[in-house]
Amino acid sequence: MKSVASAPGKVILFGEHFVVYGVKAILCSINKRVKVTSITTEEDSIYIKSNLGNITISRSKSLDEIKSPFLPFLYLAKTLLDKFDKKGGIEVTIESAIPSGVGLGSSSACCVAAAASISGLFTKYSKKEILKFAIEAEKTIFENTSGADCTVCTFGGIIEYDKENGSKKIDSPSNFHFVISNSNIPHSTNSVVDKVNHYKEKNELVFSSLCKEETELIKKAVQYLKESDLGSLGKILTKNQEYLEKIGVSNNKLRKMIEIANQTSYGSKITGAGLGGCIISLVNEAKLDQTLENLEHKNFECFSAKIDSKGLDTF
Ligand code: PMV
Repeated sequence: MKSVASAPGKVILFGEHFVVYGVKAILCSINKRVKVTSITTEEDSIYIKSNLGNITISRSKSLDEIKSPFLPFLYLAKTLLDKFDKKGGIEVTIESAIPSGVGLGSSSACCVAAAASISGLFTKYSKKEILKFAIEAEKTIFENTSGADCTVCTFGGIIEYDKENGSKKIDSPSNFHFVISNSNIPHSTNSVVDKVNHYKEKNELVFSSLCKEETELIKKAVQYLKESDLGSLGKILTKNQEYLEKIGVSNNKLRKMIEIANQTSYGSKITGAGLGGCIISLVNEAKLDQTLENLEHKNFECFSAKIDSKGLDTF
């Protein structure tokens, strides 16, 4: 028996870091995907294979003893085999076109595609049910995940998210062209979040006024997205970057990338935790190649991306 699923990566358009303190964020899934193939096997073992490495465990092994980035997939395989009372094991193959560890949602996309692919061996769950398993799986390695990444990877498109109200889809007629440039500096989201918390404690007033400004920016962003007003959206991306600079999550390499991208785009900012990872630029299709060329000319890794409106797909 074989089951295949694929899910997209994501970018944060607005609101990273401030979202931790209750402000809204806007996330968007992108057309870079991960594909997960699962097959049932006769041996009592779970085998995970990916371009980042392999792991095999016996079904009887307790997950508490396992320290591995593949823990979410082992969790899914074990939980679903037990839930459907199946004998034997599962082999899971992960093929990803999403760079990992740079804020593009590769972990969430893998959890969503794996939850769909593994559960698809035994039943046909709705997207909502698959999302629940994917978030549980991601929590085995990111205990405090908000679930926003998994949500946008499952349903696709653009969502607004806040801690209190969860996520809501934004209907936008736009078909944006993004340029994503990767600093190739891996970032630890937790340590950057801690750094911002430290900044907040030392600068309570400034931070609370930045949260208010970010909230206003996000109201405008929702409106511009609905109106497909790319020029205005670009300007507020750049404005959002000023706030990220203030809270100390930028660095010289990211600033240089942004400066080059801004010469030919509507606007640019860091996407995700910062201090590494990627920047995102909103570009006019006619300026896409020039933007990529300018970044490549300075040896910055970059690629173009569009919104993925499909989300999770099963085969
Ligand atoms: O892990 P990343 O790079 O996608 O960024 C996470 C976004 C933060 O707002 C910095 C943290 C969070 O939990 O929302």
